[in-house]
Amino acid sequence: MTDETTNPLRAGLTARKVAEPCTVVVFGATGDLTARKLMPALFNLSREGHLPQRFAIVGFARRPKSDEEFRAEMGGLLHEFSRSKPAGESEERDFLARVSYHQGNLDDVLDYQSLRERLEQIEQQDGLPGNRLFYLAISPEFFVPVTENLRAAGLVHPVASDGPWSRVIIEKPFGHDLQSARELNRHVLAAFDESQVYRIDHYLGKETTQNILAFRFANAIFEPLWNARHIEQVQITVSEHLGMEGRRGQYYDTAGALRDMVQNHIFQVLCLIAMEAPASLDAEAVRDEKVRLLRAIRPMTTEEVARHTVRGQYGAGSVNGKPAKGYREEVAVDPQSVTDTYVALRLHVHNWRWSGTPFLIRTGKRLPKKASEVAIVFRRPPHQIFDAPELGAIPQNTLVLRIQPDDGIALSFQAKQPGLSLKLQNVKMDFRYGSSFGQPVPEAYERLLLDGLLGDATLFTRADEVDRAWQIITAIHEGWAARPRPAFPNYEAGTWGPAEADALVADLANGWRRI
Ligand code: BG6
Repeated sequence: MTDETTNPLRAGLTARKVAEPCTVVVFGATGDLTARKLMPALFNLSREGHLPQRFAIVGFARRPKSDEEFRAEMGGLLHEFSRSKPAGESEERDFLARVSYHQGNLDDVLDYQSLRERLEQIEQQDGLPGNRLFYLAISPEFFVPVTENLRAAGLVHPVASDGPWSRVIIEKPFGHDLQSARELNRHVLAAFDESQVYRIDHYLGKETTQNILAFRFANAIFEPLWNARHIEQVQITVSEHLGMEGRRGQYYDTAGALRDMVQNHIFQVLCLIAMEAPASLDAEAVRDEKVRLLRAIRPMTTEEVARHTVRGQYGAGSVNGKPAKGYREEVAVDPQSVTDTYVALRLHVHNWRWSGTPFLIRTGKRLPKKASEVAIVFRRPPHQIFDAPELGAIPQNTLVLRIQPDDGIALSFQAKQPGLSLKLQNVKMDFRYGSSFGQPVPEAYERLLLDGLLGDATLFTRADEVDRAWQIITAIHEGWAARPRPAFPNYEAGTWGPAEADALVADLANGWRRI
């Protein structure tokens, strides 16, 4: 495959990408992720011509079910979850004709042997070359048994330039801490070569996250300012108004905000914002730079953890005018839980470019609204001629990259108000994805599934990246464990987190941004 066809950012600029004939095997076929994200994404890829004629999808799960039953269930979901235009009947029929179901236990190798026979049969019957993409949409405790069973049953082809390929997409969480992530990497890499492993982070599939690369490296005017000399601070906020809907608390209570959002999504965004320019958009070039950036963030000492991190847990309050329960009252959450539902960090990137610019990160559940953004706050002009007291403090130029909602980029600057006196006003240049392009934005899972099918790993995380991210996160958990815990709950649902978070930004003129 040429560079043109595999490069994700160029993908949108050149001809439509079409995957090679292959079979996608979805483990966890009756689960929520398959229903809400994977099947609709595959369907959209199919109707938009990104899947080839010869293509099969096999759902693997424990419940007994016939192919017909599975197809009927999936058909219902396509109506509910697939985006944009309503599905035409023939599009749907053609898609579902490629779907089948294989019943099996994730930890029983015999079920993988029968899966292998089934795949060989499908491949022969449909004239498929044997390419296989395994998608692990399952609970993390099964990542090891599934990869081991895939290997043991001979379902994984070795890497060869002229033979069929095998790849595996692994959902998050990839490990629980440094040690478990290393252990998991060791097991996964015993079954697959690193080049066959696609660790998914859906934030990388978001259009606006990818746009960070385009913004930084396809424009000449921002990069000269993109350093500690000109940037005073960077704030990354990922706030959510939701709490523990459904049984979400069951997983979340074992994770917490630092593991759930920072180790993966927020670090990925941080890497794209702060890394050096890669030599090309090739997967290895981009990932090398991301790892280099993470290596420039030193794991904190216990004392630094106390000074540079704040954790919180929400109590009862109200969100969007409706009463909201406290975290400990949520379904499937331990009533004495000490899990963090909010975290704020002050990180330093110890390299030439960023020395002296703090990166302020905050994320939490049950905050006032859902918003993900990166704010780049520039330093004030070196000599201020407008600082007459009547003009008040002049706001700093701020560039905000909105990841969601209302995806876009806004730059604020000062303008003179019309009139005979010299009054300044903060004004904004605002680019909005929706109105500028007027076309629907693909779902993160569509982009990532297609990249997995095309063999492009640029938007997936590599083993060394995951490892370094866990080194930083585990040091924070260890620092927390070594000191007395704050009295939880320490913020009300519907507020911007614990008051202590303000201390992290106390030396900065305007504190946390108001969003
Ligand atoms: C998931 C986390 O990875 O990302 C969830 O497990 C979180 O807790 C979700 O709600 C946020 O994703 P998005 O795309 O809604 O920002």
